[in-house]
Amino acid sequence: MIDLRSDVMTLPTEGMLRAMTSAPLGDEQVREDPTVLALEDELTGLLGQEAALFVPSATMANQIALLCQVRRGQEIVGERNSHMFRYEAGGPAFLAGAVVTGLPGEAGVFTGDQVREIAQVRDSEHRPRTALAVVEDTHNVSGGRAWPLAALDDLHDTCDELGLAVHIDGARLFNAAVALDVPPDRITARARTVAVCFSKGLGCPAGAALVGRSDALAPARRVRQMLGGSLRQAGVLAGAARYALQHNVARLADDHANARVLATLLAEGGLPIDPAGVDTNFVFLDLASLGLDREDARDRLRSHGVLWSNAHHPTVLRAVTHLGHSEADLRTAAARTVEALSKEP
Ligand SMILES: Cc1ncc(COP(=O)(O)O)c(C=O)c1O
Repeated sequence: MIDLRSDVMTLPTEGMLRAMTSAPLGDEQVREDPTVLALEDELTGLLGQEAALFVPSATMANQIALLCQVRRGQEIVGERNSHMFRYEAGGPAFLAGAVVTGLPGEAGVFTGDQVREIAQVRDSEHRPRTALAVVEDTHNVSGGRAWPLAALDDLHDTCDELGLAVHIDGARLFNAAVALDVPPDRITARARTVAVCFSKGLGCPAGAALVGRSDALAPARRVRQMLGGSLRQAGVLAGAARYALQHNVARLADDHANARVLATLLAEGGLPIDPAGVDTNFVFLDLASLGLDREDARDRLRSHGVLWSNAHHPTVLRAVTHLGHSEADLRTAAARTVEALSKEP
């Protein structure tokens, strides 16, 4: 079976497991885990920031970012299908008490002008004050699209002008950096906070971090404690993350190339896919023009030995490449997919 459902399915390699078992450990709650401290230090340098906090998941990093920067009743703006808005169980409303305003985006990208049009940056007796703009890079629901740097700069220019902070949900930040061929701090240095994740394309079993300006992160350790996210000998996980930063970032280019191989072969096989829409490691296949029911399509794919997952849009299937796949796997998966979806049931 070739499993293309998600890059969260990666398993730690032997090298990573060795890094985990040999990592020096201590009690992280009292800042005595040397591996976590080293990881946090590396991350601030890598992302052009001042402070970092290791957390169990990217969802927690995002929610801590809100709890640190948004007061109850304040507004956050971002692309309307952002993971924070759609897939974090209503956390922004439940935890931070935020008013969430979702903007229509193009490939996950919204503009400074869209923010300017709706942002309330002065106190008002009626309107919620806008506290934060949220950028998701790469953007999951749009198909792993990377924000073009010019669009990011435009958003920052507007937010600087309006006095608005920017949070980047960089669960797949390193995919974006590799796709754009820039160092990660070119994407993150102007943000006030950034969430990064180690358990997706970077291949770790768990772990994420919130990175940002020192003043933004000042309450972050306390908030993490409140959410139950403070770990003890967390160096076991931070050791995996440090290994991943060293060994698994540049190789994301292979995942992107494999996604393009898959998309190209599917297009050549007559399926409705535009390989030009593949920026990183996601491939979306819209079944609408094939007249296929999505669950039926997934069953057919499974019986041909390939697993796709459901994308956000109801007629779309998603494949995600990662370090567990070789190019040969993607070639086989493409042939099986064409075979499964082309023939009459
Ligand atoms: C863009 C984005 N942000 C945040 C997350 C949350 O990551 P986790 O499930 O590891 O908390 C995901 C997970 O898929 C994601 O795609």
